[in-house]
Amino acid sequence: MGIRTRFLIIMGILSLLALVALGAASYEFSRRAAMIEAGNKGEIIFNYLQSQRHFFQKNQTPLINELIEKDRFYPNLMSGFAATSTTFDYFNQRMPGFTIKYAATNPLKETNRADDFEVQILDKFKADQKLKETTGTITKNGIDFYFQAIPLKVDNPACLECHSDPALAPKDQVVIYGTESGYNWKMNEIVASLLVYIPISGAIAQAKQTAMTLLGIGAGCLIFTLFVISIFLEKGVVQPIMRLNSRTEEISLGKSLDQPVVIKSNDEIGSLSRAIDRLRISVARMLTRR
Ligand code: HEC
Repeated sequence: MGIRTRFLIIMGILSLLALVALGAASYEFSRRAAMIEAGNKGEIIFNYLQSQRHFFQKNQTPLINELIEKDRFYPNLMSGFAATSTTFDYFNQRMPGFTIKYAATNPLKETNRADDFEVQILDKFKADQKLKETTGTITKNGIDFYFQAIPLKVDNPACLECHSDPALAPKDQVVIYGTESGYNWKMNEIVASLLVYIPISGAIAQAKQTAMTLLGIGAGCLIFTLFVISIFLEKGVVQPIMRLNSRTEEISLGKSLDQPVVIKSNDEIGSLSRAIDRLRISVARMLTRR
């Protein structure tokens, strides 16, 4: 295998490895940036929801309790959980893809029932009462989400008016939600988890796209560079060496001794050609002396 081919193969393999490493790094950086971005979005949604519910419990509930009879119950007027979920449904119409869920294993509202993944999250919070938040990624129905979850505790005896014995709950509530689920909660029990799901499929696709574009541009530059190097090697190294090779063979056979060996170059090949030319002169002299 010639010098040029060997050199090009080694160069090609090394550059290709570097290119793949660069592409993978680019993908990883973009993916991480997308995660941080999703985390920030989640944080905003989270805090906004919590604040809305806080407002509901602190400012609105006392007024509503004054105004409405004991057994009347209007979910959107009287449940911070219903109000924030409904607000989020409107939010979702404007910005589709995002989801929030008050996931519970024993919920009043059936759509709040935790799925297998959410049960795992709840178990995690129940096992470690100090854990305040958990985040990660999850694929649901083929869509990738970044999720953020916090535990929800029965932290106020007032919660139990509606969530312990159905007989104690407002009659309207029992009519709307039934008596099957959402009751018998205990004080300080972790009953639910608020989860925010932020879609990241788009961002991941974008990260892949960026990495592929980088790979494409890199491969183009690589092919061009190898092509230029190949021409340089052909003209600057291989051809002169082949010429010196045939001239040296001629000299060894005593042929064309009157024609000088000239390769005008200041590099190693030029120096080799001058050495061969001196050899030619010596051989010519030796042959004429005889
Ligand atoms: C006046 C009755 C009432 C009180 C008091 C009340 N809740 Fe609820 N809660 C409800 C109703 C009704 C729903 C279902 C709301 C909906 O339709 O989205 C609900 C839903 C929830 C949910 C969502 C899961 C589910 O069961 O559907 C959680 C979690 C929750 N409540 C926790 C609490 C906590 C914690 C407290 C005390 C700080 C509390 N609730 C106080 C009536 C009440």
